[in-house]
Amino acid sequence: MSVAETYGPWAIVAGASDGVGAAFAEELARRGVNVVLVARRRQLLDELAARLDVATRAITLDLSTPTATEELAAATSDLEIGLFVYNAGADSVNKVLLERDLDELRGFVRRNCTAVLEACHHFGGAMVSRGRGGVVLVTSGAAWCGGHTLSVYGATKAFDLVLAEGLWAEWRQHGVDVLALVLGPTDTPSLQGSLDRSGGKMDRLADPADVAAEAIAHLADGPTWSYGMPDPAGPPPLGTLSRRQAVELMSAGAAAVHSKPDA
Ligand SMILES: NC(=O)c1ccc[n+]([C@@H]2O[C@H](COP(=O)([O-])OP(=O)(O)OC[C@H]3O[C@@H](n4cnc5c(N)ncnc54)[C@H](OP(=O)(O)O)[C@@H]3O)[C@@H](O)[C@H]2O)c1
Repeated sequence: MSVAETYGPWAIVAGASDGVGAAFAEELARRGVNVVLVARRRQLLDELAARLDVATRAITLDLSTPTATEELAAATSDLEIGLFVYNAGADSVNKVLLERDLDELRGFVRRNCTAVLEACHHFGGAMVSRGRGGVVLVTSGAAWCGGHTLSVYGATKAFDLVLAEGLWAEWRQHGVDVLALVLGPTDTPSLQGSLDRSGGKMDRLADPADVAAEAIAHLADGPTWSYGMPDPAGPPPLGTLSRRQAVELMSAGAAAVHSKPDA
């Protein structure tokens, strides 16, 4: 059966204007699924929609606002949403907690946690009622433990990881596949922006097109898929370290991306 036959005729990609989200939209369209494209930059959404050979609906929405999910639900109430990919989530600020504005952090948590929860409840609930569907929550290796400059980002990504795993357990008997997609460094405009700001360099970045294709191919292999790991469905990669060693390693990794070389 095709992806559209298995899950339904329409997918939503939340955070679709570039990078991994745009690649998900392209992969789903290639597999014959109509796509609702959600992000803030309208022009990029329209350009992407024009490239896709399926029906599309572009919705300009800031997912960090308190009414975002309500607005998304209203704007798609006439569609059968069979797949929901929640991709928006990177941290473009990369500072320690106390250097950040609390209101900005509240919006960040709304986008990465509250809106994800609400979308799962609304769209996943309809899938469970229908007895078919799929949900992908894009999370990060930063979810495995805390780290310097990653405190809030990592905590939100841990929320997404654990939420997806729990929903996988709750919804599998209802015909709904849920996947926590754990990404390492991936070649997106957002990561490139962080590297440009810090002067950092990273080798071996994952290609968003490969990430999206692999995730869709393994949608039914949840609860967790760690892209690029030797055993993507296997144990957490830091599992053999003490928690302190893990946090120190994560902090060193973050410093390589987020700090100016002379800082
Ligand atoms: N890139 C990496 O190396 C990496 C590593 C690990 C995990 N990840 C995860 O992969 C996902 C994608 O990351 P990314 O690097 O592509 O960066 P990103 O900043 O999450 O951007 C992805 C998409 O989300 C949209 N977006 C961001 N904030 C939004 C908001 N408030 N409302 C609506 N749309 C919003 C962006 O479009 P607009 O700006 O047009 O709104 C863009 O289309 C994230 O969940 C991230 O945690 C990435």
